[in-house]
Amino acid sequence: MLRFPAILCFISIAYAADYYYPEVFNDPERDAVYYDSFPEDFIWGSATSAYQIEGGWDADNKGPSIWDVFAHTPGKIYNDENGDVACDSYNNYLEDVKILKDMNVKFYRFSISWPRILPSGLIDNVNEAGISYYSKLIDALLDADIQPMVTLYHWDLPQALQDIGGWENETLVDIFNDYADLCFDRFGDRVGYWITFNEPYVVTWLGYGIAVFAPGINDPGYAPYRAAHTIIKAHAEAYHTYHKKYSYGGKISITLSTDYGMPEDATKQEDVDAAIRYMQFTAGWYAHPIFKGDYPAQMRSQVDMKSIAQGLNESRLPSFTDEEVEYIKGTHDFFGLNAYTTTVCRYHESPTSEVNYESDQDVYRFQPDDWPKSASEWLRPAPWGLRELLNWVKTEYDDPEIFITENGVSTPYEQILDDSDRITYYSAYLNEVLKAIKIDEVNVVGYFAWSLMDNFEWASGYSQRFGLHHVDFDDPDRPRTPKDSALFYRDLIASNAFVINSAVFIRTSSMVILFVFALIRLLK
Ligand SMILES: *[C@@H]1O[C@H](CO)[C@@H](O)[C@H](O)[C@H]1NC(C)=O
Ligand SMILES: *[C@@H]1O[C@H](CO)[C@@H](O)[C@H](O)[C@H]1NC(C)=O
Repeated sequence: MLRFPAILCFISIAYAADYYYPEVFNDPERDAVYYDSFPEDFIWGSATSAYQIEGGWDADNKGPSIWDVFAHTPGKIYNDENGDVACDSYNNYLEDVKILKDMNVKFYRFSISWPRILPSGLIDNVNEAGISYYSKLIDALLDADIQPMVTLYHWDLPQALQDIGGWENETLVDIFNDYADLCFDRFGDRVGYWITFNEPYVVTWLGYGIAVFAPGINDPGYAPYRAAHTIIKAHAEAYHTYHKKYSYGGKISITLSTDYGMPEDATKQEDVDAAIRYMQFTAGWYAHPIFKGDYPAQMRSQVDMKSIAQGLNESRLPSFTDEEVEYIKGTHDFFGLNAYTTTVCRYHESPTSEVNYESDQDVYRFQPDDWPKSASEWLRPAPWGLRELLNWVKTEYDDPEIFITENGVSTPYEQILDDSDRITYYSAYLNEVLKAIKIDEVNVVGYFAWSLMDNFEWASGYSQRFGLHHVDFDDPDRPRTPKDSALFYRDLIASNAFVINSAVFIRTSSMVILFVFALIRLLK
C-alpha cells in the first residue's frame, strides 16, 4: 500500500518541471526551465562579420584579405566555396537593417573589413568608397533606432600585412593602431561600442597553429604564441588610443571565446585542474593579461616546463616587460564572450616530444555521444555549461559587465524555415543566461544571437547554417527570409521574459495536487 503513493510522489516531482533536452538534461535542480524576466534594460542584439556576409570582395578598390586568398586556394574550404558574394551585404545592407528592425533588436554587431578601407593595410592609402559603405550602414542603423557594436578585427587581415608576417610581426601593433584610429575618427561619433579583436584564440590556433583557417600556417608550437603576443599588445594600444585621443564616452573591449571546460570526474583534483587549465589556455590567454596583468600562471608554468624539457634555451611563451604588463592591464570596458558549447576535460600528460600548444595543456577533451547534436561536429548543445561559464568569468575576472557577443547553433539542412532545433537551443541557452543573471547575480548586460542570417561559415563554406534568417544563395538577389527562430527571438525580446505557458501551468498544478494527494496517502 505504501509503494504506489511513493511512486506517485516521485513522478509528480520529476514531471512538474519543464526541460529543453528532456532525454539527456533533466536534472530538476540544474536543468528545469526557470520562469522570470530579464532586466528591463537588457540589450538584445544579433551579430555578423564582414567576410561572412559582405561579398564585394574586390569592389571599389577593396584590397584582398587573407580570407580572400585562403578561400581562393583550392582544397581549403568545403566544396571550394568562398565569400566573393556571400550574402552580398555590400549591396543589400538596407535589407539587413530591415530584418534587424523586424525582430526589434536594439543592437547590431558587425565588423569592418580592414582591407576595404585600407587596401594595403597601411594608413597612407584610405579607400573612401569603403569608408562610405560603413558610414551609410551606421546611419541606416541609427535611423532604425539600432545601436551599432563594431568589431575592428573579425579575421580578415589585409593580405599585404600577411606578406610581412601577419600577427607574428610585432610592427602590426602600430599598424593596427593606425587602422583603429581611423575607424574611431570616422565613425566614433556614431558608434558607442567597439570590439578590437574577435576570438583571438581561434585566429592564433586555427590560423597559425593547425592551418585550417587563414592564413593557413602550420606551426603549432610557436606561431600561435607569437601571434597572440602581438594581438594582445595591439588590443591594448587601440584601447588607449580610443580613450586618450577621443572623448566620445563609448566603450571598447575584446571578445574572447572558450567552451565551458567541465572536469570529467569532479572528485579528481587533476581533472578539475585540467578543466581550468583548458579555459586559461583559451580565454585566459588573452583575458588574464587584459584583466589581471600578464599570462595566466598555469600557461606560464606549463609552457616554460615543456620548453625546458624540450631542450630549448627560452620558453615558447613570450614574456611581457613590466611596463607592458602595466600598459595592457585594465584595457577593458566590458567582457565580450562568445560561447557555443561545453567540453569534458580529463588530465592527460602529453609526451615531451609534442611541441604543440594543445599538448602544452596536458588535457584530453571530448563531448559525450549522448549529448544533443547540431549540424556542426564541434557544437553539441549543453546549455547548463553557459551558466557555469558565466559564473567562471564572474569569479575569475572580478565581476565584469559581460556581453555575450555570440551564441547560436547550426541546424540540419532540412530545417530551412522551420528550424525547431534552433528554437530549442536559444530557449535553453537563454534560460541559462537568465538563471545566471537572476539566481547567480552575474552581470550579463547584453546578448547577441549568432547569426542574423545564414552566411559563409569559414572552412565549412555554406554547408553549416547559423542564421535566424534563411538566405537563398542560388538567387542573385540573395533574398532573406525569417526562419521560425527569428519570430521566436522577436517574441522573446518583446516579452523580455520566460513566461510560463498554460500547458505547463496546468501540468504543474495538477502535479502539485497529485504530489499532495500522494503525500497524504503516504503519511497516513
Ligand atoms: C615586419 O614588418 C616590417 C614593416 O612593418 C618589415 O620591415 C619587416 O621586414 C617585417 N618582418 C618580417 C620578419 O617580415
Ligand atoms: C635561443 O636560441 C635561438 C636559436 O637557437 C636564438 O635565436 C635565440 O637568440 C636564443 N635565445 C637566447 C635567449 O639565448
